[in-house]
Formats: sequence, C-alpha cells, structure tokens
Amino acid sequence: MSVELVLAIETSCDETAVAVADAQGRPLVSRVASQVKLHAPYGGVVPELASRNHSLDLRPLLDSALTEAGVTPREIGLVAATSGPGLASSLLVGDTLAKAVAVGLGCPFYSINHMEGHLLSPFLHPHRKIEPHVALIVSGGHTLLIEVRGVGDYRRLGSTKDDAAGEAFDKVGKLLGLPYPGGPEIAKLAASGCRDTHAFPRSMIHSGDLEFSFSGLKTSARVLIDRLGGAPQDGALADFCASFEEAIVDILVTKMLEACRRTGLRLAAISGGVSCNRRLRERTNAEAAKAGIELILADPAYSTDNAAMIAFAAASRRLAGFPPSPLDGDINPNLRLA
Ligand code: KG4
Ligand code: ZN
Repeated sequence: MSVELVLAIETSCDETAVAVADAQGRPLVSRVASQVKLHAPYGGVVPELASRNHSLDLRPLLDSALTEAGVTPREIGLVAATSGPGLASSLLVGDTLAKAVAVGLGCPFYSINHMEGHLLSPFLHPHRKIEPHVALIVSGGHTLLIEVRGVGDYRRLGSTKDDAAGEAFDKVGKLLGLPYPGGPEIAKLAASGCRDTHAFPRSMIHSGDLEFSFSGLKTSARVLIDRLGGAPQDGALADFCASFEEAIVDILVTKMLEACRRTGLRLAAISGGVSCNRRLRERTNAEAAKAGIELILADPAYSTDNAAMIAFAAASRRLAGFPPSPLDGDINPNLRLA
C-alpha cells in the first residue's frame, strides 16, 4: 500500500518554509529558512527582498526537506501551499512551485488560508482531534477570535480594528530602538521588569464586544517615550517592556475568556507568533483553568510561520472531505478566514 505523504509550502511573508507530513498532517520534517536578518536593517519586511529570497531559497529547501525526511517525490500524495493572506509577490513563489510539483506528480493540490494554518496548529502537536472551540489567533498581521465548529466551519467573533497585537509589539520595539521583530525582544526584557510601573491603556477591554484595538496602546507608548526624553535604558527599559506586555496580555486574556462565555464553548486554543509569548502562555493557562476552560496552546515550534501547519490544514481538509483546489485558482493577498 502506498503511503500518502503531504508536501506543504509556505511563503506568505518573510519565512520560506517547507514541510513533509504523514496523511494525518503530522510533520515528518518542518524546515524554515528565516529572512529575519535580511529585513532587520529596514525595521520591517521589504516585499521585493522577501520574494527574491523565496525564489532563491525555496528549491534547495524543498530538496533538503525531502532528503531529510528520506522521502522520494513519488511518495507524495498531496501538495499544499499558502494562497493568502500575505504579500502578493511572496505568495506567488510558493503557490507556483507547489502547483508545478502537483502537476508533475499528478497529485491533488490544496490551496490553504494561512490563518487556517495558524488556527488549526494547536491541534497539530501533540496530535489531537479538532473539536468545537474558541480560537484566538495572534500574529504579526492579525488578531482574530473565531468560533470553530469543525474543519472549514468558522465564524468570526471579533478582530482588531487597527493594529494587530504582534504589530503593536513590533512597532513599539522599533520606538524603543530594539532589533526587529520587537515582540520577542520586548518579551525577553519584560522577564526582569516590573509590570505595574506604567499604566498603559487596555483599549476596548470592556467594550462589550469581542473587538480589539492596539493603536492607542502604541500611541501611549510613543507619548511616554517622548515624555521620558527618549527610550528608557537598563532597568527602566525592562519595566517599560513588562508594563507594555502586561497591557497586551490583559486584553487578550479578557477577550478570549469573554468569547468562551458568550459561545458557551469550554475549549480554547491560541496560535500565531505572539502565542510564543511566555507571559501570555502563563496568564491564559492560569485564568482558563480558573474559569474551567480547557486551553491548548500551539507548540512554539509551530506558532511562528511554518509549513507544518499548512500541511496539517491541508490533511485535515482532505480528511474532512473537502475537494482539492483548482490549479487555475489565484493567490489572494487579502484572503479572509471568516
Ligand atoms: O505568526 P507570525 O510568525 O507571522 C505572521 O503571520 O504575522 O507572527 C509574527 C509575530 C511578530 O509580530 C513577532 O513580534 C511576534 O509574532 N512574536 C512575539 C513573540 N514571538 C514572536 N510577540 C511577543 N512575544 C513573543 N515571544
Ligand atoms: Zn503567520
């Protein structure tokens, strides 16, 4: 009997990623070639540089992922790629190569929404059945609360009206003169800081809905830096970061639990790059337990952009009976999840 493996490609932003997974979407190999260093001098992702480097890195990455998995192309039974949302020129690189491979191998192609990859990633490792739950996706570009009824059955509960949580971390990191991306840098400094030093606003925390806003928080950080006469240093920098991080975590925890209360769901899952944040993991774990909510956090290895989550979403879709995607389908930089 032939083993049907999944080959997935992710190039929506600044990470070139390839994964090989089994028929259930459990990863055999997940490789990411990060472009973080390349974009760091610019303080953000430069689309032209990102797509050029996807073009350079993708083929060798694909070859080495197959070699590392000990897999020949003939063993691949499904090819998947991210078709949006993301940067158009970056998406095109992965989408085009994946379709070419699917045609060459004569196997089905699944185009996957990057946000669905994040959304399902908490169920990827350790592998677990996907059940109805509240999903909080916190990445560099999105902050989304989704009611998940099953694979492909999603209802938007709330999202950010302006900046995403990761974007707020990154923009304030830049104001503080920290390396890009600011999220992990702020988190590192916050670990030794005092969370009560500055009372940053918790915008919309009691807005009575499940919407988010982080731009006011970013503005108040900028105003405080101006008032302090520049970015704080040493211990004062740690206190600034801890207070700022706590404001974001407070908002995310409160809205996630409110979404569980409103939907009556007792299971919640958090994914996306910001879900790597240690304080967010601690606080959501503690407060979900207090509220009697079971919480699943994406494994940090599959929280920031990767192709294992794309393979898992594709395998989950196939197992749920969704048909393959047409090969003449286009990428969509503004693709929505729900
Ligand atoms: O999911 P992701 O890799 O890319 C998008 O799809 O956007 O998320 C990247 C975001 C960046 O904003 C980065 O600063 C943030 O995740 N991030 C963190 C941490 N690690 C990554 N933010 C806060 N704390 C962290 N430990
Ligand atoms: Zn992402």
